[in-house]
Amino acid sequence: MKVILIMVQSINGKVRLINDKNQSWSSQEDKENFSKITKEIGIVIMGRKTFDEIGKPLKNRMNIVLTGDPEKYQKLEKAYEGSLYFTDEKPESLLNRLEKEGYEKIALIGGPTINALFLEKNLIDEIYLTIEPVIIEGDLSLFSYVQGVHRFKLNNVINLNNDAILLKYQKVDKGRKI
Ligand SMILES: NC(=O)c1ccc[n+]([C@@H]2O[C@H](COP(=O)([O-])OP(=O)(O)OC[C@H]3O[C@@H](n4cnc5c(N)ncnc54)[C@H](OP(=O)(O)O)[C@@H]3O)[C@@H](O)[C@H]2O)c1
Repeated sequence: MKVILIMVQSINGKVRLINDKNQSWSSQEDKENFSKITKEIGIVIMGRKTFDEIGKPLKNRMNIVLTGDPEKYQKLEKAYEGSLYFTDEKPESLLNRLEKEGYEKIALIGGPTINALFLEKNLIDEIYLTIEPVIIEGDLSLFSYVQGVHRFKLNNVINLNNDAILLKYQKVDKGRKI
């Protein structure tokens, strides 16, 4: 089981522009790349606030949304039967369950609160990080909090267009929990 964090950030390290729910500051190429990679992986895990911002499950992918109150979303789950699940499972048990269900890769797609939850448990194996050539009035960075040092190795640099680059990192530290 491999967990790949997929995010886009600005030159000044922000992942959200204040008062912009459509992520208008990121490139079309990044959006297309995100769509392609997550469809290949087949399953995304996200926080409830990120889901609220997207507004509906991502098509042709299994959507798992972390929330402290999964019961609240039973109707919505039913409406998208089979492709949308809300859960309050701990990251390790969620990944264990998904691995048993046959998933080999998981796309972790934010936001910073959920990213930090997985990072602190040492559960992020790879990071696909797009850097857009913009400086934005942002308030959030990749992780809402970080403890200590987490080392990654740069595996690949891909030009998404003339300006945006995609950096592919792989975790160096051993000690994966599952
Ligand atoms: N640039 C990018 O690539 C990118 C990608 C994704 C998101 N974003 C940005 O990130 C923003 C949202 O990030 P965020 O950090 O505020 O929120 P988030 O990580 O998307 O979601 C936080 C929510 O997750 C749930 N949660 C937190 N800890 C949990 C736990 N231990 N177990 C179960 N559920 C838990 C809670 O939901 P409940 O309140 O329902 O309990 C919490 O309110 C969005 O506005 C979006 O713009 C940017």
